[in-house]
Amino acid sequence: MNIIIRENYNEMSRYAAGIIAGLIRSKPDCVLGMATGSTPIGTYRELIRMHRDEGLDFSNVRCFNLDEYLGIGLDLSKPYNEDQSYARFMYEELFKNINIKKENTSVLDGRAKDPGKLCKWYEDEIKRAGGIDLQLLGIGGDGHWAFNEPGSSLASRTRVQALTKQTLDDNYEMFYKNAGTAREDMPHFALTMGIGTILEARNIMMLASGIKKAEVVAKALEGPVTSQITASAIQLHSGGITVVLDKDAASRLVYADRYAHVEALRKRYSI
Ligand code: GLP
Repeated sequence: MNIIIRENYNEMSRYAAGIIAGLIRSKPDCVLGMATGSTPIGTYRELIRMHRDEGLDFSNVRCFNLDEYLGIGLDLSKPYNEDQSYARFMYEELFKNINIKKENTSVLDGRAKDPGKLCKWYEDEIKRAGGIDLQLLGIGGDGHWAFNEPGSSLASRTRVQALTKQTLDDNYEMFYKNAGTAREDMPHFALTMGIGTILEARNIMMLASGIKKAEVVAKALEGPVTSQITASAIQLHSGGITVVLDKDAASRLVYADRYAHVEALRKRYSI
């Protein structure tokens, strides 16, 4: 695991965007797994800047979103704050600002009549695209990846998932409250790639920022692998793993000095 600790959110975001941009430059038709939440917004802004100022070209990039609330989907007839779909988030925060083709942005549509069938189709679609080259991830307050809540199998596939009280509270504060939605009216279920699906990505990059994430980050990276903290499955991944943290999110790590030492060595020997 490559654990990178940066001074603050902006530096974390710039580092993460640099990794994604490097992949796009070396493989212009790469397949990216995209994450939502407040954490990757800075990374997306930096990618938009690179597209605008440096010509970073997304025209052959393919994307798959990690998850979506059940019951909602992209609705451009509404203002952004009234459309809380993750599809809308990706559209506003990234896709509309870069030259990615709409047909190359796959999302789980929360309005699907048969969610089980949709989830199966999504898995097949990822395979048809040749698999995900780099999956971007945040981490939820309860240690989840995407919407794989505590107790999810670490071999789980794309499916419908009930949200925990903590996730509903966290995400209500972050998004739904601003739209004036009542707490009981926000979706209580989601469609999510499974932990098994995520672990099949050839590379994964997890981001975390802020003191609120410090404890759960330490549990995921340095604690036991457990379905109670589904992000701890990061320890089982067999490909390239990058974790980019700001200082606050890294503040509960026991081995932070070791990670800094390894980063310095890798830089010095260009590994
Ligand atoms: C949601 C998403 C996750 C995300 C998490 C953390 O629950 N489903 O993919 O990692 O929020 O969000 P934030 O980055 O706002 O802390």
